[in-house]
Amino acid sequence: MKVIKSAALAATLMLACAHGAQAGEQKTRPILGISSSALAAFGGAAGVHNWVESLFYYIMLDNRINWIFKEFGNVERQIMLNTQLEQLVLGGAVEYQGASMAAAHADLGITMAQFNAVVEAAYNACERNNISYYACNQLINALAPFTAVIVTR
Ligand code: HEM
Repeated sequence: MKVIKSAALAATLMLACAHGAQAGEQKTRPILGISSSALAAFGGAAGVHNWVESLFYYIMLDNRINWIFKEFGNVERQIMLNTQLEQLVLGGAVEYQGASMAAAHADLGITMAQFNAVVEAAYNACERNNISYYACNQLINALAPFTAVIVTR
């Protein structure tokens, strides 16, 4: 039951993401189900928050992408909103209060290589927080469909 709920939430987010696209251009993708233990595997809300803090630590160490966040981002706000979003896609009953993924990244001209650098930071954050590779992959999987609206160049 939880699996269906999580998938439905992610699908809703994808629709929200595609909302900004022109008619007929919607890029909603199916995603794999998230196991009901996924959020617990991250250590619950506090664990997700720690993971997001580590994610931004590794992002800001990476010269391929840190300049984008320095110039256009607001790390404190992004840590807060990513903590909500990641909990949500892992099946948590939280409200995401930020912009759609399409709107947030529309003007940034993000490339696939830059997106992949963030994915590397995400795996490093998992390792740093002792989150299993299996659990980490579940989160990466759930976020992967956003590539369609985040990578614009
Ligand atoms: C699946 C991958 C990603 C997720 C889940 C994600 C999530 C988010 C969230 C939640 C926000 C905050 C939206 C708001 O302020 O309302 C945001 C903003 C932002 N993201 Fe991402 N993001 C992803 C990939 C990337 C990549 C690859 C880059 C750059 C290499 C990037 C750069 C930024 C920047 C600079 C902002 C601030 C935009 C602004 O405040 O105008 N993001 N992202």
